[in-house]
Amino acid sequence: MIVGGITRVPGDKSITHRTLLLAAMAKGTSRIGGALTSLDARSTARALRQLGAGLSPLRPESVVTVEGRGRLRRPEAVLDCGNSGTTARLLLGLLAGHRFAATLTGDGSLRRRPMRRVTVPLAQMGARFSETAGDGLPLTVRGGPLVPLRYAMPVSSAQLKSALLLAGLAGGVEVELREPHGRSRDHTERLLRAFGYRVDEDDGWIRFGPAGRVGTFELQVPGDPSSAAFLVGAAVLAEAGELRIAQVGVNPTRTGFLGVLERMGARISVEDVSEHFGEPVGDLVARPAALRATEVRAGEIPGLIDEIPMLAVLASRAEGTTVFRQVGELRVKESDRLGLIAENLRSVGARAEVVGEDLHVEGGSEPPRGPVRSAGDHRLAMAFAVLGTVAGGRIRVDDMGCAAVSFPGFPEVLRGLARRARP
Ligand code: S3P
Repeated sequence: MIVGGITRVPGDKSITHRTLLLAAMAKGTSRIGGALTSLDARSTARALRQLGAGLSPLRPESVVTVEGRGRLRRPEAVLDCGNSGTTARLLLGLLAGHRFAATLTGDGSLRRRPMRRVTVPLAQMGARFSETAGDGLPLTVRGGPLVPLRYAMPVSSAQLKSALLLAGLAGGVEVELREPHGRSRDHTERLLRAFGYRVDEDDGWIRFGPAGRVGTFELQVPGDPSSAAFLVGAAVLAEAGELRIAQVGVNPTRTGFLGVLERMGARISVEDVSEHFGEPVGDLVARPAALRATEVRAGEIPGLIDEIPMLAVLASRAEGTTVFRQVGELRVKESDRLGLIAENLRSVGARAEVVGEDLHVEGGSEPPRGPVRSAGDHRLAMAFAVLGTVAGGRIRVDDMGCAAVSFPGFPEVLRGLARRARP
């Protein structure tokens, strides 16, 4: 394949969720350009409308207008978060600081995902929860007057960290947090700082003192580096070409995959970097490379958690065995991503296994061929579609439709960028 040209990717999913939630907490009109319009973003938008905010429809290429009322209002029906863990966990945090009851649910995948990691510390702050299905959704939250929290998080998770910061914001109480190892994405901290709040860091502790209301804002969401990673992967696996992905978020807590790719022998340049609302934004330029194996250390995992499916398929084309250390957290993503990465790599003829909490992927050069079971997990579907672009490859992903969770139109974009090399 030749993968080349200039392209963009849809808006950052994490920043879209956060800006929609914060705009709903402001009193007045905020405008969000470049927002993601995928299924997950729509789940947040739908829930916020039920909670009293006015949101214009999420349409590609158009600015989203959010009419915030300063607080959220009691919803009349259950809040369906669809497939979106970020919607559910961040909303639980925000709702913990509101004195009414709300029930959250989600699709089959989301209902199986753990929520106690969020509800246990939120309960320490004073919110109450009624579980109906153990550690998962549906779940009813009754917010209350909150007390300050000082909490050493048991997992590095930006969703947990953000839920607690948003609870502090909604409840008007100080929150101090520490992550166990590695730094998860820090978009919430950066946005809060850009809005004038104090977020300090001292000796591994993040301290947030919420003073005053969120003001309205106008902001442009950068392209999602996690979506860009799939196109970067296609360009690295190609036989020729150069691909530029313009205006992607290059926040260092999101770009761990670039460092791993460099160790594997690929050089992705980051060009024309500027800053907007505390977030660095730049162009990624990727070219083909001969890959070699590497070890991805436990401390690196939070900074590339969503890129592991992509890195694992690239590792299956590298010389040697790549090991991803301590990736058990992948078991509780949109699917059991850990088990399914290994199972699907084996299904297309590669060697991969889960050893304890680690993932081992042995590289090879046979064309990848065989069926892939995505289990409705967008990132698995996209990673294996990229692997299918390898010369001689024949991969059948059972459901490419799920790419719309984060990257609407992905199959068409990939087809448009990849052309067959002349034999
Ligand atoms: C996200 C955080 C990550 C990531 C998810 C989005 C966020 O999850 O996997 O896709 O926007 O905060 P964890 O925080 O659970 O690691």
